[in-house]
Amino acid sequence: MAKLLLLTLLGASLAFVGERLLAFRNSFGAVQELEPVEPQNCVLIEGLENGSEDIDILPSGLAFISSGLKYPGMPNFAPDEPGKIFLIDMNEKNPRAQELEISNGFEKESFNPHGISTFIDKDQTVYLYVVNHPHMKSTVEIFKFEEQQRSLVHLKTIKHELLKSVNNIVVLGPEQFYATRDHYFTNYVLALLEMFLDLHWTSVLFYSPKEVKVVAKGFSSANGITVSLDKKYFVSRMFCLRSPG
Ligand SMILES: *[C@@H]1O[C@H](CO)[C@@H](O)[C@H](O)[C@H]1NC(C)=O
Repeated sequence: MAKLLLLTLLGASLAFVGERLLAFRNSFGAVQELEPVEPQNCVLIEGLENGSEDIDILPSGLAFISSGLKYPGMPNFAPDEPGKIFLIDMNEKNPRAQELEISNGFEKESFNPHGISTFIDKDQTVYLYVVNHPHMKSTVEIFKFEEQQRSLVHLKTIKHELLKSVNNIVVLGPEQFYATRDHYFTNYVLALLEMFLDLHWTSVLFYSPKEVKVVAKGFSSANGITVSLDKKYFVSRMFCLRSPG
């Protein structure tokens, strides 16, 4: 009887691992066939050879791009280079990425930018909020954009015990944003195991100076987040497409 139970358990565990493996492969697009489509109106932006992570576009057509993310399990093109923020002007016919200078004593060596989001106040000052992973922690950095100097002035680092494994943010007002957490554990092995098991326990946080709270959970991997004009927001699950070539 004990043997039978053991065999049943073994069978069930193997079936579970098999199912998880398939789901994991599928979620990364590894077994999906796609028809190749020629990109329309696409130009290669020079100056971003070390990769780009997130983009946020201002109404004027200026776009910020975060680059150089170092993240567990993800390939990195320049492991010894710190992360950077680039600016492109989408009004130009052949826009070129220009690295933005960062001033005001910000520690650039450990800059590891992930999701970004802009906010324009009533005086038309542009602020850039950046999810940062210095030494694999999660902070949110606030910069003021100086358009004439093409630079970012560091204003503030936001830290909070709930701001862990942050992936992306969308800013609603001064120091007020929603943020996605794409995994729960911070330990590298546990984080990978967690993604593999797909436990649906990643979440969306609301942050304001007065209140920080989890507002939604149960996502397989809460990734990008953006807000619609009526201020209803949505999250997209991590999804990678691999070209047939
Ligand atoms: C990309 O990384 C290499 C080092 O691996 C560095 O020399 C180069 O300046 C980087 N390019 C940009 C645009 O950051």
